[in-house]
Amino acid sequence: MKFFIDTANLDQIREAQELGVLDGVTTNPSLMAKEGITGRNNILKHYVDICNIVDGGVSAEVIATEFKAMVKEGEELADLHDQIVVKIPMIKDGVKALKYLSDKDIRTNCTLVFSVGQALLAAKAGATYVSPFIGRLDDISADGLNLIAEIRHIYDNYAFDTQILAASIRHTMHIIDCAKLGADVMTGPLSAIEGLLKHPLTDSGLEKFLADYKKGN
Ligand code: G3P
Repeated sequence: MKFFIDTANLDQIREAQELGVLDGVTTNPSLMAKEGITGRNNILKHYVDICNIVDGGVSAEVIATEFKAMVKEGEELADLHDQIVVKIPMIKDGVKALKYLSDKDIRTNCTLVFSVGQALLAAKAGATYVSPFIGRLDDISADGLNLIAEIRHIYDNYAFDTQILAASIRHTMHIIDCAKLGADVMTGPLSAIEGLLKHPLTDSGLEKFLADYKKGN
């Protein structure tokens, strides 16, 4: 399972990279705004800064919503750095843009996916990644994890190459459940990733080992 961090915060991206388990980064316009990154040039520079910190793919989202403008913007983003993955929203023109960009061997991430039908279309259009938003489904009392399971089932039926990128991960158990269900990738906050390493028996066990070592030295 690949681990992506879902943030535009450079300090958190560096921290995750230094942990040694990071495979990529996802961003979106809201995450950029949260870091105070505004204006086209600043946003483009920020994507390059992120690419220079991490080794893996960096998802950069198009703002355009009409086919021609989407592919133009997608090509510009892809030209920024070879680690860029073009993030395209699941709308009608987005499906066309996914197909166009994937035919040109530009990697894509289909975002704002909330149903199996949308995930099927994204795979048919050749998306590199499909991003079902599990946390936002949970928010409206739907079952985000069940969506991951259903997409896994359908993709396996037809051996689609599109990778399931579980997005809108909110906490550590989401990561574990997505791993059980066979998601190819998860993207979440640093806190959810760091939650994986915590266990009270590890802490108390280490405390005892160190205390016993001190007794003998
Ligand atoms: O990767 C998608 C993500 O950015 C959305 O997360 O927490 O805003 O639902 P959230």
